[in-house]
Amino acid sequence: MQASERKPGRIRKAPENFLEPSFLQTLRKEGMNQGRRDFLRKAFLAATAAMGAPALAAAAEGDPDILNLPEWSKILGNPVAMRPYGMPSKYEANLVRRESPGLASVPQASVAFTPLQGMFGIITPSGLHFERHHQGWVDIDPARHRLMLNGLVKRPRVYTMDDLLRLPSVSRIHWLECGANGAMEWGNVAVPTVQYTHGMLSGSEFTGVLLSTLLDDAGFDREKAKYLLAEGADGSSMTRTIDIDRALDDAMVAYGMNGEMLRPENGYPLRLVVPGVQGVSWVKWLRRLEVGDQPYATKDEASHYVDLMPDGMMRQYTSIHEAKSVITSPSGGQLLMDKGYFNVTGLAWTGRGSIRKVDVSFDGGRNWRTARLENPILPKALTRFNIDWVWDGSPAILQSRAVDSTGYVQPTYTQLRAVRGSRSVYHNNAIQSWSIADSGEVSNVHV
Ligand code: MTE
Repeated sequence: MQASERKPGRIRKAPENFLEPSFLQTLRKEGMNQGRRDFLRKAFLAATAAMGAPALAAAAEGDPDILNLPEWSKILGNPVAMRPYGMPSKYEANLVRRESPGLASVPQASVAFTPLQGMFGIITPSGLHFERHHQGWVDIDPARHRLMLNGLVKRPRVYTMDDLLRLPSVSRIHWLECGANGAMEWGNVAVPTVQYTHGMLSGSEFTGVLLSTLLDDAGFDREKAKYLLAEGADGSSMTRTIDIDRALDDAMVAYGMNGEMLRPENGYPLRLVVPGVQGVSWVKWLRRLEVGDQPYATKDEASHYVDLMPDGMMRQYTSIHEAKSVITSPSGGQLLMDKGYFNVTGLAWTGRGSIRKVDVSFDGGRNWRTARLENPILPKALTRFNIDWVWDGSPAILQSRAVDSTGYVQPTYTQLRAVRGSRSVYHNNAIQSWSIADSGEVSNVHV
């Protein structure tokens, strides 16, 4: 993060305002017989002084490059046909999903984390959505994919993708977080960046068919139906139990993500979306839904995705994510280049309702100020917060604390461990601390 770029009082946009076409033409004509750089500088300084902007003239003195036309202003640009599908600039090549070395023993049972430190707003570009596969990703031919709906229903169904695309459709913005997000932190392993502490989190607009629509279509047994089993088509045989109330509330089978079809790594052509619930229940490459009257206790919910409690007992079916937040910038691995003003920004989310408030501390939790929540603030969607901060150059500890619409307050590590112990893997929603050294280096600390 470039502190120097964010200093108040710097007039970064002004030169563009001054270089309006007529002024540019004068420069071009008169500049024929002189050293171009020198002429531009003089003309610019004269123009800014004449317009009563000595501060701007001084700024241009310190940054003479603004007085030269760069090479891209003098060439023909690329034709649109060069990129029928848009790509980020080559200068953004560092902003990619990253795997954590050594986290998975085989590349197919993998996690790739979203670079939260470089994200704006609440939507994750599809190409940066985190990935978690139990047995690699598959690219399924949509013409051959089917969704079966069976069990306690009057009319068992087998839907093609074309069938599903004809049904009433909804589009909703939600986050998706793996239950294991923050797992390494339970054991006091302070991983270096927010990409690794919190990057099994992404936010998207999903489009698809509500489960309530499908269940009605199949005539489910309203008396006996208590649970759904969701099954994926990949080699991991991913299967999860979903409460019928949750299924009827806002869960959907989604084929769309961020305005286009799902990406293969995120479940193309069909995945389950269960807002507010941990990611493992969002079964990808969804092939079957079965309506039942009891939980299925499948392999992915009997031995995995359970919480090991301090008394040695396992807590099962704790699917809903409690309120959580994190400052994404400044965050671990970044460097504050200079003292002065910073926009401190981050994300907050909850599986219960919406985010009501985010407080931010700059002194390790002794004092708190309330951050600005940016619109939209939607249920079970990421909420972006921002807060002004002037860094005086001395060491600081930055933290954020979310409060949701139920009044639940995000806990500290001490509070969380008092209830959950420290041998858990899943559902870590503790307050994250970033330490700022007087050198400006930002690192992950546990306080
Ligand atoms: N569904 C299937 N069929 N296979 C999987 O491996 N992984 C689950 C879930 N659904 C998985 C799956 C886990 S653990 C998570 S966190 C989310 O998908 C991750 O979704 P994403 O890869 O789109 O981010």
